[in-house]
Amino acid sequence: MEVNHDFKTVATLLLKSKKTVAFTGAGISVESGIPPFRGNGGIWNQYDPKILELDFFMQNPHHCWPLIKTLFYDFFDDKQPNAAHRILARWEKEQLLTVVITQNIDHLHHLAGSKNVVEFHGTSQRLVCLECDFFTEDTPGYLLKLPPTCPNCRSVLKPDFVFFGEGIPREAYVRSMEAMADTQLLLIIGTSGEVSPANQLPYIAKRNGAAIVEINPEPSNYTNALTDFYLQGKAGEILLELDRMIHHEQQLQQ
Ligand code: OAD
Repeated sequence: MEVNHDFKTVATLLLKSKKTVAFTGAGISVESGIPPFRGNGGIWNQYDPKILELDFFMQNPHHCWPLIKTLFYDFFDDKQPNAAHRILARWEKEQLLTVVITQNIDHLHHLAGSKNVVEFHGTSQRLVCLECDFFTEDTPGYLLKLPPTCPNCRSVLKPDFVFFGEGIPREAYVRSMEAMADTQLLLIIGTSGEVSPANQLPYIAKRNGAAIVEINPEPSNYTNALTDFYLQGKAGEILLELDRMIHHEQQLQQ
């Protein structure tokens, strides 16, 4: 690993790359006021992650749902995309970025205007019934009374994000593998690299020859193992700086 504050090198790589992928985690939403899962102020320091274990949830919906609603619905309610989400959305429009693969369930990449987003861990925006085919995007309506239940079969509804012990949504998995197989540049932003199988995706990109840029205020599991260029700092601040550098380089090239 090379500690590299040379924004110019990374900006040049971004301008040259024919396919760039961003792989994001909870850290990119911290500047929007959403706490991460681990580390400083992490949700799992305060709450028992058992509430997202599928078996425990199914057996204890009356206990789990109020906490899930507080953490993943009430808390997300008024949260807005920050500079980091917005820059990634603009880079997609400017054809500097091909796709965002996010572990986040907060929908902020979509709200920022990104179109090509793969939600590797699903989304909080939908509730699903595990017993029949029912699903709904009227989460506010269904969460008025807890636990929410299926209008067809009366089973408990579950958020359509991945709980511990559940598989990755098939389409998201396939699209992520495809993106990692042929990306030339991977931006890893705000993830600790603790959770499998998501944490394996950057290794696939690396094996296929991608250059790896990491943005995180703290070193992660990737920093010494995989990262080529470590831009240490908050996602919003680093991406703003990188964006300035890209436009500076573009002007020089004109
Ligand atoms: P973590 O909470 O494990 O890691 C958050 C990372 O963000 C850490 O490496 C922080 O240093 C970094 N960070 C903090 N503030 C930041 C900032 N302003 N800018 C950039 N980075 C910052 O979150 P994830 O790696 O996303 O799974 O966690 C992975 C999965 O674990 C989540 O998707 C979730 C959880 O269990 C499911 O919900 C299935």
